[in-house]
Amino acid sequence: MGPDRIQHAVTIITGASGGIGRDTAHVFARAGARLVLAARTAGPLEELAAELRAGGAEVLTVPTDVSSEEAVRALTAKAVERFGRIDIAIANAGVYVRSAVKALPLEGIERCMNINFYGSVHLVRAVLPLMLQQKAGHIVAVTSVDGRIGLPPDAAYVASKWAATGFMNVLRQELRGTGVYASTILPGRVDTPMIATLDVPLASAKISSARVARAILRAVRTRRRELVIPFTGPKTLIVASAVAPAIGDWLVRMLQLEGKER
Ligand SMILES: NC(=O)c1ccc[n+]([C@@H]2O[C@H](COP(=O)([O-])OP(=O)(O)OC[C@H]3O[C@@H](n4cnc5c(N)ncnc54)[C@H](OP(=O)(O)O)[C@@H]3O)[C@@H](O)[C@H]2O)c1
Repeated sequence: MGPDRIQHAVTIITGASGGIGRDTAHVFARAGARLVLAARTAGPLEELAAELRAGGAEVLTVPTDVSSEEAVRALTAKAVERFGRIDIAIANAGVYVRSAVKALPLEGIERCMNINFYGSVHLVRAVLPLMLQQKAGHIVAVTSVDGRIGLPPDAAYVASKWAATGFMNVLRQELRGTGVYASTILPGRVDTPMIATLDVPLASAKISSARVARAILRAVRTRRRELVIPFTGPKTLIVASAVAPAIGDWLVRMLQLEGKER
């Protein structure tokens, strides 16, 4: 990686065609990164790649379902084949399943785990040996404030995000001294297609995906361990829930944080 760690850095972004991933691709391209973009559907990836190339970026697109270990290994192999190394890997692909536990089919839980948790794990496992060999690299996982608290009726999503947050927490500590870094990004509500039909209260107003994208760049530049964005409201809730679950539950109820599906 270059002196500011982003210039020329070979950067894999999963879920690149959607809200946060798409803006992250733009932000990293502007900072001079070389991009490897992944999502399941080829069309939107190609459109994004064309936009980024028009701005002067080097871009490789690899349609990938992150829930498949084999597909993620093929993704990283293609990145290495094209660029010879991988500097930054951003596990961002994710899905949201909304259902109360009593009505939640097992398939909904598996879907969240397979994409949100195992999708991130597959990327970590695929890039780690190479990054350790390079003695350089940075792994980012976009989890969620839901990776530290629980909002009804999101048990499947919340469980997958807690799992991913926990995995990254341990990975980060194990990487100490290796030259490889790990950051976890925990956004609150973000204005993307994922929750387009969800009305949320002012207390958890949606922030822009561009803001989250800039935070991801900052986290890599400053090697942040964890970044909660926006900070104040979510951090207050995380601390309150950790110290006294009754107060956490009360805040969720009082502020009507679960929102309403339109
Ligand atoms: N929006 C929020 O309020 C919010 C808050 C906190 C955290 N997050 C997290 O931020 C990340 C990005 O979310 P977003 O809001 O930007 O979502 P989004 O707009 O729905 O975009 C999701 C992206 O992930 C891709 N994707 C979905 N399933 C995939 C799979 N199996 N394999 C590969 N790519 C897949 C989608 O493309 P294809 O469908 O073509 O694959 C799309 O590019 C997610 O991890 C999400 O949980 C979002």
